[in-house]
Amino acid sequence: MPYHFSSLQVIVLAAGKGTRMASNLPKVLHPVLGKSMLQHVLSSIESLLPKSITLVAGHGIDKLRSFIGQPENLTWVEQKEQLGTAHAVLQAESSDPDAELVLIVCADTPLLQTSTLADLIQQHLQQQADVSILSAQPSNPYGYGRIVRDAQGQVTAIIEEKDANAQQRQIQEVSSGIFCVNRAFLFQALQNIGNDNAQHEYYLPDIVPIALHAGKKVQAISMDNSDEMLGINDRIQLAQAEHLMQQDVIREWRKQGVTIEQADTVRIEASVHIGADSVIKAGTQLLGSTHLGDDCVVGPYAVLQDSWLEDGITVAPFSHLERCNIGDDANIGPFARLRPGAKLDEAVKIGNFVEVKQAVIGRGSKVNHLSYIGDTVMGEDCNIGAGTITCNYDGANKHQTNIGHRVFVGSDTKLVAPVAVGSGATIGAGSIITKDVKEDGLTLSARPEQRHVKNWIRPKKGDR
Ligand code: UD1
Ligand code: MG
Repeated sequence: MPYHFSSLQVIVLAAGKGTRMASNLPKVLHPVLGKSMLQHVLSSIESLLPKSITLVAGHGIDKLRSFIGQPENLTWVEQKEQLGTAHAVLQAESSDPDAELVLIVCADTPLLQTSTLADLIQQHLQQQADVSILSAQPSNPYGYGRIVRDAQGQVTAIIEEKDANAQQRQIQEVSSGIFCVNRAFLFQALQNIGNDNAQHEYYLPDIVPIALHAGKKVQAISMDNSDEMLGINDRIQLAQAEHLMQQDVIREWRKQGVTIEQADTVRIEASVHIGADSVIKAGTQLLGSTHLGDDCVVGPYAVLQDSWLEDGITVAPFSHLERCNIGDDANIGPFARLRPGAKLDEAVKIGNFVEVKQAVIGRGSKVNHLSYIGDTVMGEDCNIGAGTITCNYDGANKHQTNIGHRVFVGSDTKLVAPVAVGSGATIGAGSIITKDVKEDGLTLSARPEQRHVKNWIRPKKGDR
Protein backbone atom coordinates (compact mmCIF):
# COMPACT_ATOMS: atom_id res chain seq x y z
CA MET A 1 0.00 0.00 0.00
CA PRO A 2 1.52 3.37 -0.93
CA TYR A 3 1.84 5.90 1.87
CA HIS A 4 1.90 9.64 1.76
CA PHE A 5 2.53 11.49 5.01
CA SER A 6 2.48 15.02 3.70
CA SER A 7 2.88 16.88 7.00
CA LEU A 8 5.66 14.65 8.35
CA GLN A 9 9.29 15.59 8.96
CA VAL A 10 11.49 12.53 9.49
CA ILE A 11 14.62 13.19 11.54
CA VAL A 12 17.32 10.57 11.12
CA LEU A 13 19.98 10.42 13.84
CA ALA A 14 23.35 9.48 12.46
CA ALA A 15 25.90 11.68 14.22
CA GLY A 16 27.31 9.18 16.70
CA LYS A 17 30.78 7.77 16.30
CA GLY A 18 29.78 4.21 16.95
CA THR A 19 32.67 3.63 19.35
CA ARG A 20 31.67 0.01 19.91
CA MET A 21 32.24 -0.79 16.22
CA ALA A 22 35.97 -0.08 16.76
CA SER A 23 36.18 1.26 13.20
CA ASN A 24 37.39 4.22 11.18
CA LEU A 25 34.23 4.02 9.10
CA PRO A 26 31.26 5.87 10.65
CA LYS A 27 28.94 3.26 12.16
CA VAL A 28 25.94 3.91 9.91
CA LEU A 29 28.05 3.41 6.77
CA HIS A 30 28.81 -0.19 7.69
CA PRO A 31 27.07 -2.42 5.17
CA VAL A 32 24.37 -4.94 5.93
CA LEU A 33 24.09 -7.29 2.96
CA GLY A 34 25.97 -4.92 0.71
CA LYS A 35 24.03 -1.74 1.52
CA SER A 36 24.91 0.68 4.32
CA MET A 37 22.70 0.78 7.41
CA LEU A 38 21.94 4.39 6.59
CA GLN A 39 20.81 3.51 3.04
CA HIS A 40 18.54 0.80 4.40
CA VAL A 41 16.96 3.24 6.83
CA LEU A 42 16.63 5.98 4.22
CA SER A 43 14.92 3.65 1.75
CA SER A 44 12.29 2.54 4.26
CA ILE A 45 11.68 6.20 5.16
CA GLU A 46 11.45 7.37 1.56
CA SER A 47 8.59 4.93 0.97
CA LEU A 48 6.55 6.89 3.54
CA LEU A 49 6.65 9.87 1.13
CA PRO A 50 7.20 12.29 4.01
CA LYS A 51 7.21 16.07 3.61
CA SER A 52 10.94 16.18 4.37
CA ILE A 53 13.88 14.18 5.71
CA THR A 54 16.48 15.78 7.97
CA LEU A 55 19.69 13.87 8.43
CA VAL A 56 21.62 14.74 11.60
CA ALA A 57 25.26 13.90 10.98
CA GLY A 58 28.45 14.64 12.89
CA HIS A 59 31.16 12.03 13.02
CA GLY A 60 32.40 11.37 9.49
CA ILE A 61 29.87 13.79 7.96
CA ASP A 62 31.99 14.14 4.81
CA LYS A 63 32.10 10.38 4.31
CA LEU A 64 28.34 10.25 4.84
CA ARG A 65 27.79 12.96 2.24
CA SER A 66 29.90 11.22 -0.36
CA PHE A 67 28.05 7.95 0.25
CA ILE A 68 24.54 9.34 0.23
CA GLY A 69 24.85 12.31 -2.10
CA GLN A 70 21.99 14.78 -2.16
CA PRO A 71 18.62 13.10 -2.55
CA GLU A 72 15.73 15.46 -3.22
CA ASN A 73 13.88 16.51 -0.02
CA LEU A 74 16.81 15.54 2.24
CA THR A 75 18.41 18.24 4.38
CA TRP A 76 21.73 17.77 6.13
CA VAL A 77 22.32 19.28 9.57
CA GLU A 78 25.50 18.95 11.55
CA GLN A 79 25.70 18.05 15.23
CA LYS A 80 29.23 19.19 15.99
CA GLU A 81 29.41 17.60 19.44
CA GLN A 82 27.59 14.39 20.21
CA LEU A 83 25.84 15.38 23.40
CA GLY A 84 23.03 12.85 23.15
CA THR A 85 19.95 11.96 21.13
CA ALA A 86 17.82 14.87 22.43
CA HIS A 87 20.57 17.32 21.50
CA ALA A 88 20.80 15.65 18.07
CA VAL A 89 17.08 16.13 17.39
CA LEU A 90 17.33 19.77 18.46
CA GLN A 91 19.73 20.42 15.56
CA ALA A 92 16.84 19.75 13.15
CA GLU A 93 14.58 22.42 14.64
CA SER A 94 14.86 24.99 11.85
CA SER A 95 14.90 22.47 8.99
CA ASP A 96 11.19 22.14 8.29
CA PRO A 97 9.21 24.33 10.71
CA ASP A 98 6.00 23.94 8.73
CA ALA A 99 5.74 20.21 9.37
CA GLU A 100 3.18 19.17 11.96
CA LEU A 101 4.50 15.79 12.91
CA VAL A 102 8.01 14.44 13.49
CA LEU A 103 9.20 10.86 13.19
CA ILE A 104 12.58 10.28 14.82
CA VAL A 105 14.53 7.28 13.59
CA CYS A 106 18.02 6.14 14.56
CA ALA A 107 20.15 5.28 11.55
CA ASP A 108 21.54 2.19 13.25
CA THR A 109 18.35 0.10 12.92
CA PRO A 110 18.64 -1.29 9.37
CA LEU A 111 15.92 -3.93 9.64
CA LEU A 112 13.09 -1.45 10.09
CA GLN A 113 10.22 -1.87 7.64
CA THR A 114 8.22 0.96 6.12
CA SER A 115 4.96 -0.68 7.21
CA THR A 116 6.06 -0.68 10.85
CA LEU A 117 6.86 3.04 10.74
CA ALA A 118 3.59 3.77 8.95
CA ASP A 119 1.70 1.81 11.57
CA LEU A 120 3.28 3.88 14.37
CA ILE A 121 2.33 7.13 12.63
CA GLN A 122 -1.22 5.96 11.92
CA GLN A 123 -1.73 4.90 15.54
CA HIS A 124 -0.31 8.21 16.70
CA LEU A 125 -2.84 10.07 14.57
CA GLN A 126 -5.79 7.82 15.41
CA GLN A 127 -5.14 7.96 19.15
CA GLN A 128 -4.51 11.70 18.97
CA ALA A 129 -1.34 11.14 20.97
CA ASP A 130 1.39 13.71 21.50
CA VAL A 131 4.26 11.25 21.92
CA SER A 132 4.24 7.70 20.52
CA ILE A 133 7.13 5.34 21.11
CA LEU A 134 7.75 2.22 19.08
CA SER A 135 8.52 -0.52 21.59
CA ALA A 136 9.30 -4.22 21.39
CA GLN A 137 9.98 -7.27 23.52
CA PRO A 138 13.24 -8.74 22.22
CA SER A 139 14.51 -12.03 23.66
CA ASN A 140 17.41 -10.12 25.17
CA PRO A 141 16.58 -6.56 26.30
CA TYR A 142 20.18 -5.82 27.31
CA GLY A 143 21.47 -2.44 26.15
CA TYR A 144 18.10 -0.92 25.29
CA GLY A 145 16.12 1.72 27.15
CA ARG A 146 13.43 -0.04 29.26
CA ILE A 147 9.82 1.08 29.06
CA VAL A 148 8.51 1.73 32.58
CA ARG A 149 4.73 1.50 33.01
CA ASP A 150 2.61 2.24 36.07
CA ALA A 151 -0.09 -0.01 37.56
CA GLN A 152 -2.60 1.22 34.95
CA GLY A 153 -0.22 0.34 32.13
CA GLN A 154 0.55 3.98 31.32
CA VAL A 155 4.15 4.56 30.15
CA THR A 156 5.88 6.76 32.70
CA ALA A 157 9.53 6.72 31.64
CA ILE A 158 12.24 5.12 29.52
CA ILE A 159 15.29 4.17 31.54
CA GLU A 160 18.59 3.55 29.77
CA GLU A 161 20.54 0.37 30.58
CA LYS A 162 23.31 2.34 32.31
CA ASP A 163 20.84 4.22 34.50
CA ALA A 164 18.53 1.31 35.30
CA ASN A 165 18.42 -0.39 38.69
CA ALA A 166 18.32 -4.17 39.02
CA GLN A 167 14.52 -4.21 39.05
CA GLN A 168 14.21 -1.99 35.97
CA ARG A 169 16.68 -4.20 34.12
CA GLN A 170 14.19 -7.06 34.48
CA ILE A 171 11.71 -5.18 32.27
CA GLN A 172 11.31 -6.94 28.93
CA GLU A 173 9.67 -4.13 27.00
CA VAL A 174 12.23 -1.79 25.44
CA SER A 175 12.30 1.34 23.32
CA SER A 176 13.30 0.97 19.69
CA GLY A 177 14.55 4.57 19.82
CA ILE A 178 11.85 5.51 17.30
CA PHE A 179 9.39 8.22 18.26
CA CYS A 180 6.49 9.97 16.63
CA VAL A 181 5.91 13.38 18.25
CA ASN A 182 3.80 16.44 17.53
CA ARG A 183 6.29 18.94 16.26
CA ALA A 184 5.36 22.02 18.26
CA PHE A 185 5.49 20.10 21.52
CA LEU A 186 8.72 18.27 20.61
CA PHE A 187 10.93 21.33 20.24
CA GLN A 188 9.41 22.99 23.27
CA ALA A 189 10.04 19.87 25.39
CA LEU A 190 13.61 19.38 24.18
CA GLN A 191 14.57 22.68 25.82
CA ASN A 192 13.77 21.13 29.18
CA ILE A 193 15.79 17.92 28.90
CA GLY A 194 18.88 17.82 31.11
CA ASN A 195 21.92 15.58 31.16
CA ASP A 196 21.94 14.45 34.76
CA ASN A 197 22.43 10.75 34.05
CA ALA A 198 25.07 8.02 33.88
CA GLN A 199 26.34 9.12 30.43
CA HIS A 200 25.91 12.89 30.96
CA GLU A 201 24.00 12.98 27.70
CA TYR A 202 20.79 14.71 26.72
CA TYR A 203 18.47 11.70 26.32
CA LEU A 204 15.54 11.95 23.93
CA PRO A 205 13.62 9.34 25.98
CA ASP A 206 13.42 11.94 28.78
CA ILE A 207 10.68 13.57 26.74
CA VAL A 208 8.28 11.05 28.31
CA PRO A 209 8.08 12.47 31.86
CA ILE A 210 8.11 16.03 30.47
CA ALA A 211 5.13 15.23 28.27
CA LEU A 212 3.21 13.60 31.10
CA HIS A 213 3.94 16.56 33.34
CA ALA A 214 2.52 18.86 30.68
CA GLY A 215 -0.63 16.73 30.49
CA LYS A 216 0.21 15.32 27.07
CA LYS A 217 -0.79 11.91 25.80
CA VAL A 218 2.07 9.39 25.70
CA GLN A 219 1.76 5.85 24.35
CA ALA A 220 4.09 2.97 23.50
CA ILE A 221 3.10 0.92 20.47
CA SER A 222 4.53 -2.57 20.63
CA MET A 223 5.78 -4.00 17.34
CA ASP A 224 4.98 -7.55 16.24
CA ASN A 225 8.44 -8.56 15.12
CA SER A 226 11.09 -7.42 17.60
CA ASP A 227 13.88 -8.41 15.19
CA GLU A 228 13.11 -5.30 13.17
CA MET A 229 14.29 -2.93 15.87
CA LEU A 230 17.69 -4.54 16.31
CA GLY A 231 20.00 -1.59 16.96
CA ILE A 232 23.55 -2.09 15.70
CA ASN A 233 26.18 -0.96 18.15
CA ASP A 234 28.92 -3.53 17.54
CA ARG A 235 29.97 -6.09 14.97
CA ILE A 236 28.24 -8.93 16.75
CA GLN A 237 24.90 -7.17 16.31
CA LEU A 238 25.92 -6.29 12.75
CA ALA A 239 26.35 -9.99 12.02
CA GLN A 240 22.98 -10.76 13.64
CA ALA A 241 21.26 -8.12 11.51
CA GLU A 242 22.87 -9.46 8.38
CA HIS A 243 21.80 -12.99 9.21
CA LEU A 244 18.19 -11.94 9.80
CA MET A 245 18.09 -9.83 6.66
CA GLN A 246 19.62 -12.68 4.62
CA GLN A 247 16.88 -15.04 5.77
CA ASP A 248 14.24 -12.47 4.73
CA VAL A 249 15.84 -11.88 1.33
CA ILE A 250 16.02 -15.62 0.64
CA ARG A 251 12.41 -16.15 1.73
CA GLU A 252 11.32 -13.32 -0.56
CA TRP A 253 13.16 -14.67 -3.65
CA ARG A 254 11.77 -18.13 -3.01
CA LYS A 255 8.29 -16.61 -3.06
CA GLN A 256 9.17 -15.03 -6.42
CA GLY A 257 9.96 -18.45 -7.91
CA VAL A 258 13.69 -18.77 -7.34
CA THR A 259 15.19 -22.09 -6.18
CA ILE A 260 17.90 -21.60 -3.59
CA GLU A 261 19.76 -24.72 -2.57
CA GLN A 262 21.52 -25.06 0.79
CA ALA A 263 20.52 -21.50 1.61
CA ASP A 264 22.68 -21.32 4.73
CA THR A 265 25.78 -21.37 2.50
CA VAL A 266 24.55 -18.73 0.05
CA ARG A 267 24.92 -14.95 0.15
CA ILE A 268 22.40 -12.83 -1.73
CA GLU A 269 22.83 -9.13 -1.08
CA ALA A 270 19.96 -6.73 -0.60
CA SER A 271 20.08 -4.98 -4.01
CA VAL A 272 20.35 -8.15 -6.11
CA HIS A 273 17.59 -9.17 -8.55
CA ILE A 274 16.84 -12.78 -9.54
CA GLY A 275 14.39 -13.88 -12.22
CA ALA A 276 11.87 -16.69 -11.86
CA ASP A 277 12.91 -20.33 -12.25
CA SER A 278 16.55 -19.48 -11.70
CA VAL A 279 18.51 -21.87 -9.48
CA ILE A 280 21.13 -20.66 -7.02
CA LYS A 281 23.38 -23.47 -5.84
CA ALA A 282 25.39 -23.94 -2.67
CA GLY A 283 28.16 -21.53 -1.72
CA THR A 284 27.18 -18.96 -4.35
CA GLN A 285 27.47 -15.22 -3.68
CA LEU A 286 25.35 -12.71 -5.58
CA LEU A 287 26.72 -9.29 -4.66
CA GLY A 288 26.06 -5.59 -5.13
CA SER A 289 23.77 -4.66 -8.00
CA THR A 290 23.91 -8.07 -9.67
CA HIS A 291 20.87 -8.77 -11.86
CA LEU A 292 19.98 -12.30 -12.95
CA GLY A 293 17.28 -12.98 -15.50
CA ASP A 294 14.89 -15.96 -15.64
CA ASP A 295 15.97 -19.60 -15.94
CA CYS A 296 19.60 -19.12 -14.96
CA VAL A 297 21.62 -21.72 -13.05
CA VAL A 298 24.44 -20.37 -10.92
CA GLY A 299 27.02 -22.30 -8.91
CA PRO A 300 27.84 -24.16 -6.80
CA TYR A 301 30.45 -21.69 -5.52
CA ALA A 302 30.18 -18.90 -8.06
CA VAL A 303 30.74 -15.24 -7.14
CA LEU A 304 28.90 -12.56 -9.12
CA GLN A 305 29.62 -8.91 -8.30
CA ASP A 306 27.69 -6.00 -9.87
CA SER A 307 27.01 -8.00 -13.03
CA TRP A 308 24.06 -8.08 -15.42
CA LEU A 309 22.95 -11.46 -16.74
CA GLU A 310 20.01 -12.02 -19.10
CA ASP A 311 17.93 -15.22 -19.26
CA GLY A 312 18.85 -18.88 -19.53
CA ILE A 313 22.50 -18.48 -18.56
CA THR A 314 24.57 -21.15 -16.82
CA VAL A 315 27.40 -20.09 -14.56
CA ALA A 316 29.18 -23.31 -13.64
CA PRO A 317 31.09 -23.87 -10.36
CA PHE A 318 33.91 -21.65 -9.12
CA SER A 319 33.44 -18.87 -11.64
CA HIS A 320 34.08 -15.24 -10.70
CA LEU A 321 32.24 -12.45 -12.50
CA GLU A 322 32.71 -8.77 -11.80
CA ARG A 323 31.00 -5.82 -13.53
CA CYS A 324 30.27 -7.76 -16.69
CA ASN A 325 27.30 -8.10 -18.98
CA ILE A 326 26.06 -11.41 -20.35
CA GLY A 327 23.46 -12.16 -23.01
CA ASP A 328 20.79 -14.89 -23.14
CA ASP A 329 21.78 -18.55 -23.03
CA ALA A 330 25.48 -18.02 -22.45
CA ASN A 331 27.53 -20.72 -20.73
CA ILE A 332 30.22 -19.67 -18.31
CA GLY A 333 32.80 -21.80 -16.51
CA PRO A 334 33.53 -23.85 -14.55
CA PHE A 335 36.52 -21.85 -13.26
CA ALA A 336 35.97 -18.83 -15.51
CA ARG A 337 37.00 -15.30 -14.61
CA LEU A 338 35.08 -12.45 -16.19
CA ARG A 339 36.58 -9.11 -15.21
CA PRO A 340 35.10 -5.61 -15.53
CA GLY A 341 34.05 -4.69 -19.04
CA ALA A 342 33.52 -8.24 -20.27
CA LYS A 343 30.48 -8.01 -22.54
CA LEU A 344 29.22 -11.33 -23.87
CA ASP A 345 26.49 -11.57 -26.45
CA GLU A 346 23.88 -14.35 -26.70
CA ALA A 347 24.97 -17.99 -26.55
CA VAL A 348 28.65 -17.23 -25.95
CA LYS A 349 30.61 -20.00 -24.28
CA ILE A 350 33.47 -19.25 -21.91
CA GLY A 351 35.10 -22.39 -20.55
CA ASN A 352 37.45 -23.38 -17.80
CA PHE A 353 40.45 -21.25 -16.83
CA VAL A 354 39.54 -18.49 -19.25
CA GLU A 355 40.00 -14.86 -18.26
CA VAL A 356 38.14 -12.10 -20.10
CA LYS A 357 38.64 -8.39 -19.46
CA GLN A 358 37.30 -5.31 -21.26
CA ALA A 359 36.22 -7.37 -24.22
CA VAL A 360 33.14 -7.67 -26.39
CA ILE A 361 32.46 -11.21 -27.59
CA GLY A 362 29.90 -11.71 -30.36
CA ARG A 363 26.97 -14.11 -30.51
CA GLY A 364 27.80 -17.80 -30.44
CA SER A 365 31.55 -17.38 -30.10
CA LYS A 366 33.44 -19.91 -27.97
CA VAL A 367 36.53 -19.52 -25.82
CA ASN A 368 36.57 -22.88 -24.19
CA HIS A 369 39.86 -23.44 -22.41
CA LEU A 370 42.83 -21.73 -20.74
CA SER A 371 42.79 -18.40 -22.61
CA TYR A 372 43.19 -14.70 -21.91
CA ILE A 373 41.05 -12.29 -23.92
CA GLY A 374 41.62 -8.65 -22.97
CA ASP A 375 40.94 -5.31 -24.71
CA THR A 376 39.31 -7.16 -27.58
CA VAL A 377 36.34 -6.89 -29.89
CA MET A 378 35.39 -10.29 -31.30
CA GLY A 379 32.62 -10.97 -33.82
CA GLU A 380 30.09 -13.80 -34.02
CA ASP A 381 30.66 -17.55 -34.21
CA CYS A 382 34.40 -17.51 -33.58
CA ASN A 383 36.20 -20.46 -32.07
CA ILE A 384 39.22 -19.59 -29.99
CA GLY A 385 41.51 -22.56 -29.33
CA ALA A 386 42.91 -23.57 -25.97
CA GLY A 387 45.70 -21.41 -24.62
CA THR A 388 45.11 -18.42 -26.90
CA ILE A 389 46.42 -15.16 -25.48
CA THR A 390 45.71 -11.61 -26.57
CA CYS A 391 49.03 -9.95 -25.68
CA ASN A 392 47.49 -6.59 -24.85
CA TYR A 393 50.16 -5.03 -22.64
CA ASP A 394 53.61 -3.89 -23.67
CA GLY A 395 54.69 -2.94 -20.16
CA ALA A 396 53.43 0.61 -20.53
CA ASN A 397 50.25 0.70 -22.60
CA LYS A 398 47.27 -1.51 -23.37
CA HIS A 399 46.54 -2.32 -27.02
CA GLN A 400 43.44 -3.51 -28.82
CA THR A 401 42.77 -6.78 -30.66
CA ASN A 402 39.98 -6.87 -33.26
CA ILE A 403 38.67 -10.20 -34.44
CA GLY A 404 36.05 -10.49 -37.19
CA HIS A 405 33.25 -13.08 -37.53
CA ARG A 406 33.68 -16.88 -37.93
CA VAL A 407 37.38 -16.75 -37.09
CA PHE A 408 39.07 -20.00 -36.03
CA VAL A 409 42.16 -19.53 -33.88
CA GLY A 410 44.33 -22.61 -33.35
CA SER A 411 45.49 -23.57 -29.88
CA ASP A 412 48.35 -21.75 -28.18
CA THR A 413 48.21 -18.71 -30.45
CA LYS A 414 49.55 -15.34 -29.33
CA LEU A 415 47.81 -12.32 -30.83
CA VAL A 416 50.25 -9.48 -30.23
CA ALA A 417 48.17 -6.30 -30.06
CA PRO A 418 47.48 -3.95 -31.68
CA VAL A 419 46.35 -6.44 -34.26
CA ALA A 420 43.27 -7.28 -36.34
CA VAL A 421 42.03 -10.62 -37.69
CA GLY A 422 39.73 -10.57 -40.73
CA SER A 423 36.42 -12.47 -40.84
CA GLY A 424 36.59 -16.11 -41.82
CA ALA A 425 40.33 -16.37 -41.12
CA THR A 426 41.91 -19.53 -39.72
CA ILE A 427 45.11 -19.23 -37.67
CA GLY A 428 47.32 -22.28 -37.29
CA ALA A 429 48.08 -23.66 -33.83
CA GLY A 430 51.05 -22.17 -32.02
CA SER A 431 51.20 -19.04 -34.17
CA ILE A 432 52.60 -15.75 -32.95
CA ILE A 433 50.56 -13.13 -34.79
CA THR A 434 52.18 -9.70 -34.94
CA LYS A 435 50.63 -8.38 -38.16
CA ASP A 436 47.02 -8.04 -39.24
CA VAL A 437 45.51 -11.29 -40.55
CA LYS A 438 43.64 -11.25 -43.87
CA GLU A 439 40.07 -12.45 -44.22
CA ASP A 440 39.52 -16.16 -44.91
CA GLY A 441 42.38 -18.55 -45.75
CA LEU A 442 44.97 -19.97 -43.36
CA THR A 443 47.54 -17.83 -41.61
CA LEU A 444 50.29 -19.27 -39.47
CA SER A 445 53.68 -18.15 -38.25
CA ALA A 446 56.90 -20.10 -38.91
CA ARG A 447 57.17 -23.26 -36.85
CA PRO A 448 60.32 -25.15 -35.81
CA GLU A 449 60.81 -28.10 -38.12
CA GLN A 450 59.63 -31.45 -36.73
CA ARG A 451 62.19 -34.26 -36.81
CA HIS A 452 62.32 -37.91 -35.95
CA VAL A 453 65.19 -39.50 -33.96
CA LYS A 454 65.22 -43.06 -35.10
CA ASN A 455 67.38 -45.03 -32.64
CA TRP A 456 66.35 -43.25 -29.49
CA ILE A 457 65.55 -45.52 -26.54
CA ARG A 458 63.20 -44.43 -23.81
CA PRO A 459 65.01 -44.44 -20.39
CA LYS A 460 63.94 -47.03 -17.83
CA LYS A 461 63.73 -46.75 -14.04
CA GLY A 462 67.16 -47.44 -12.47
CA ASP A 463 69.18 -46.24 -15.53
CA ARG A 464 72.20 -44.09 -14.60
C1 UD1 B 1 19.30 4.46 21.97
C2 UD1 B 1 18.21 4.94 22.97
C3 UD1 B 1 17.60 3.72 23.66
C4 UD1 B 1 17.06 2.75 22.64
C5 UD1 B 1 18.13 2.37 21.61
C6 UD1 B 1 17.51 1.60 20.47
C7 UD1 B 1 18.80 7.13 23.87
C8 UD1 B 1 19.46 7.88 24.96
N1 UD1 B 1 18.83 5.81 23.96
O1 UD1 B 1 20.34 3.85 22.71
O2 UD1 B 1 16.56 4.17 24.53
O3 UD1 B 1 16.59 1.59 23.30
O4 UD1 B 1 18.72 3.55 21.03
O5 UD1 B 1 18.50 1.16 19.56
O6 UD1 B 1 18.22 7.74 22.98
N2 UD1 B 1 23.20 9.88 17.93
C9 UD1 B 1 23.40 11.14 17.44
N3 UD1 B 1 23.92 12.11 18.27
C10 UD1 B 1 24.22 11.85 19.56
C11 UD1 B 1 24.00 10.55 20.06
C12 UD1 B 1 23.48 9.59 19.24
O7 UD1 B 1 23.13 11.42 16.28
O8 UD1 B 1 24.67 12.78 20.24
C13 UD1 B 1 22.65 8.86 17.04
C14 UD1 B 1 23.59 7.70 16.79
O9 UD1 B 1 24.38 7.94 15.64
C15 UD1 B 1 22.65 6.53 16.60
C16 UD1 B 1 21.43 6.92 17.39
O10 UD1 B 1 21.50 8.30 17.64
O11 UD1 B 1 22.29 6.37 15.24
C17 UD1 B 1 21.31 6.17 18.73
O12 UD1 B 1 22.52 6.36 19.46
P1 UD1 B 1 23.23 5.15 20.19
O13 UD1 B 1 24.45 5.66 20.82
O14 UD1 B 1 23.30 3.98 19.32
O15 UD1 B 1 22.17 4.90 21.37
P2 UD1 B 1 21.82 3.52 22.10
O16 UD1 B 1 22.73 3.34 23.24
O17 UD1 B 1 21.73 2.44 21.11
MG1 MG C 1 22.17 2.23 19.12
